[in-house]
Amino acid sequence: MKDLLQQFSGIETPFYWYDLSLLDRTLAALKAANKQGYHVHYALKANHNPEIISRIKAAGLGIDCVSGNEVAHALKHGFDPSDVVLAGVGKTDKEITYAINHDIFSFNVESIEELKVINEIAASKGKKPNISIRINPAIDAGTHHKITTGSKENKFGISDEELFRSTDLIKSLEHIHFIGVHYHIGSQIMDLNRFRNLSVRINEIQTGLVEQGIELPHLNVGGGLGINYEDPDGQAIPDFEGYFQTFSENLKLLPGQQLHFELGRSIVGQCGSLITRVLYLKESGATKFLIVDAGMTDLMRPALYDAEHLAQNLSSESSKVLKYDLVGPVCESSDVFNKGIELPESKRGDLIAIRSCGAYGETMKNEYNLRSLAKPYYSRP
Ligand code: LLP
Repeated sequence: MKDLLQQFSGIETPFYWYDLSLLDRTLAALKAANKQGYHVHYALKANHNPEIISRIKAAGLGIDCVSGNEVAHALKHGFDPSDVVLAGVGKTDKEITYAINHDIFSFNVESIEELKVINEIAASKGKKPNISIRINPAIDAGTHHKITTGSKENKFGISDEELFRSTDLIKSLEHIHFIGVHYHIGSQIMDLNRFRNLSVRINEIQTGLVEQGIELPHLNVGGGLGINYEDPDGQAIPDFEGYFQTFSENLKLLPGQQLHFELGRSIVGQCGSLITRVLYLKESGATKFLIVDAGMTDLMRPALYDAEHLAQNLSSESSKVLKYDLVGPVCESSDVFNKGIELPESKRGDLIAIRSCGAYGETMKNEYNLRSLAKPYYSRP
């Protein structure tokens, strides 16, 4: 990224930098890997920046939303309601009404009570929305516990036992159209075997449903494919091919059944960096602190999930490598990006790139300590 230094001069730090050409290449790779023609819905929560989502829309992806405001954002930016799915464990009546009014493709429903509420609201409008039921498959995703969603202790979805117990009730609800089952076991999953295990579980559950005479036209396996945070240049584009192949080899789809995905991080993660400037150096015992002007308000992932993003000094020409604790200015001890990271000798004024920030970076930024929000800038193809 050193070649970008010139372009960065004059921009107030910290700021987000997006490589839109990498985003385009990632979208092209995704398309090429999707030989089976599966439906991919981009998970808007990963990044809702209009410049980013307009490219995603142009690549023909649908969209996965988790709030009424996300649905409104997607529609405002040109996504067709028939490409929108709405998930979320706590949808409000207002959000449900909004989505029904706009005839979205489907709700991913997370409890039986929610199903009844959707049925009631739909009845009052004389509509019959599509719904998929989210099953918690009780599968270990092998990722950080705070981004695991498919284990028994997680709040998401219902168990397959509850689904089997509820099929008569579901059939009795006249204002919903039960079209599918939905899963999502977690995020930043690098081990494709986890998706193989998920496929095996889905096959079991599907067999149980078919035995009850329920054959659903849609199956949604969520997202979760991880990215390489350690080597963003070495693996700028995730292994979409292996990912889709894992499902095509292991999932037993019913005749004509359509398979849906909800990918976020793997599409946008590597195209964004957070660019920050060194404010101060300070030593405490053996520790050298590099205090930069970006903090946990700009990128929450290290503080929240102990995430490690690669940091690079773009300005230093020094051949001397030192170990630093890279920390932000926020009044919290958790405002640390990296502990003991090796960087060329660094000084006040140097620019540091914190890599792989395209997903869950800007969307989670906040104004804690009344800090200004980092703005986005772009390198265009
Ligand atoms: N579908 C559902 C139902 C989800 O809950 C999520 C992410 C996705 C799809 C997209 O997952 P992805 O392909 O991006 O892994 N803030 C955390 C990640 C939270 C993920 C929440 N759900 C982080 O920065 O690591």
